[in-house]
Amino acid sequence: MNSIPPAIYLAPFQGITTFAYREVYSKHFPCIDKLFTPFFTNVQTSGGVALKARELEIISHNQVEVVPQVLSKDGAEMLRFIQFCHERGHREVNWNLGCPYPRVARKQRGSGLLPYPDVVRSILDEVMPASPIKLSVKCRLGYEDDQDIFNLLPVFNEYGISELTVHTRIGKQLYGGQADWAIIPQILENLKIPFVYNGDIFSVEDYLRFTQMFPEVKTLMIGRGLLTDPLLPCKIKGVFEYNLPEQQLKIKRFIEDLYLTYRKQMNDRPQVIPVLKELWRHLSFGFEDPVKVFNCIKKTNTLDDYESGVAKVFSEYQ
Ligand SMILES: Cc1cc2nc3c(=O)[nH]c(=O)nc-3n(C[C@H](O)[C@H](O)[C@H](O)COP(=O)(O)O)c2cc1C
Repeated sequence: MNSIPPAIYLAPFQGITTFAYREVYSKHFPCIDKLFTPFFTNVQTSGGVALKARELEIISHNQVEVVPQVLSKDGAEMLRFIQFCHERGHREVNWNLGCPYPRVARKQRGSGLLPYPDVVRSILDEVMPASPIKLSVKCRLGYEDDQDIFNLLPVFNEYGISELTVHTRIGKQLYGGQADWAIIPQILENLKIPFVYNGDIFSVEDYLRFTQMFPEVKTLMIGRGLLTDPLLPCKIKGVFEYNLPEQQLKIKRFIEDLYLTYRKQMNDRPQVIPVLKELWRHLSFGFEDPVKVFNCIKKTNTLDDYESGVAKVFSEYQ
């Protein structure tokens, strides 16, 4: 194994890795090195950003840095967002060039910008000289063509992007197929800024295979693998040796705490349930019978039902 444990970042998930999730997750599982917010968009006025300011007021959860993410193709809008974050003490903003959804990509945003290096360049030309804090980028390989990235790397190098996270799929793929590892050496060869790998690390075994192939990559961003097994970063770092019942107990406590935090935040309204269902969609894959486990939660509509569903999951499934 690569003897130095990697740095591990929490990938952003719209609707799942919320303020409450980031707070409670980083409290229960102190193995994460950076937290990214899901993207902010339509930052039309600084008043518009202020509406979401509660999220942006927090620059760290349990001593772990929070990096706000923006989805935009408008330099002035990005600067407004960056300035707002800077005033609150953030040291970095992340630019989303990876969102694959057609309604986003069609408007040349997210991964829809990847085929247009000249547009990316002109945005950075406006943003970088005026930005008082670091700008990092999270991208895919391209939108339709996995070679798009090679026209962008020189631009990212030239403008001093602080860190480049690459989810090695193209936008059109959404989440189909597998993340491409064969393209990584060519990216590393052409990149002069720090690289963060993202995609399909679901287990310690996946990490070990990855790090054997790419020992020089020291930073990973993990999404679905962590939502499914919240202990994954601790396991990868080798700081977690608990047996299965102890692992289950840790996850149970985390889920309970998250539930209570949401209840408090939403004044005990049942709107908390759809939010938790989205998480259980992933979490259920960490149990022996994911379909049955998810069914216990999927059907619940009241707080009482939800609590009974969770109790059933933890008493009947490993
Ligand atoms: C429901 C959903 C919401 C997501 N929201 C965001 C987002 O707001 N910003 C972003 O950069 N990526 C977003 N992603 C992509 C993930 O952060 C991550 O890049 C992707 O899941 C691949 O990593 P993984 O294989 O470790 O899960 C989202 C993915 C899903 C499935």
